[in-house]
Amino acid sequence: MAGTAPWSEDRARTIIADHRSLRGALLPILHALQEHFGCIDDAAVPLVAAELNLSRAEVHGVVSFYHDFRRTRPGRHVVKVCRAEACQSMGAERLLDHARRRLSAAPGETTADGAFTLEAVYCLGNCALSPAVMIDDRLHGRVTPARFDALTRQEEPA
Ligand code: FES
Repeated sequence: MAGTAPWSEDRARTIIADHRSLRGALLPILHALQEHFGCIDDAAVPLVAAELNLSRAEVHGVVSFYHDFRRTRPGRHVVKVCRAEACQSMGAERLLDHARRRLSAAPGETTADGAFTLEAVYCLGNCALSPAVMIDDRLHGRVTPARFDALTRQEEPA
């Protein structure tokens, strides 16, 4: 299940304080915020900027540059379909098309019932078992369309 805690400025300040002494603290802070809240809330940007002596634009720039960071809250489960080379050669595009139809959501979108956010990603480190899919923090290999259906049904039984 993706992090879905409601926004809390106090909690965000604690998370920032816990990571601010790390070298190159910006990325660890953003990852920790997203892990907790499910996205980088707009309200987090000025807090991070002030704490690290950066401009808001600089923090915004980093959030938008890295595809890993989300600006809006995800569904209850995040489904990542790999479309990098090894997976492509094993039918990843067909699998992604299937996922899009099955969930009625394009990459970057969340299903109408809030159950799944679909994301297309580039390499999940599971190339030997392509095509690869990650649902929340669980990695799956050699995923066929039928297996994709079974895995998503397992997370959210109809
Ligand atoms: S290319 Fe898909 S997991 Fe590496």
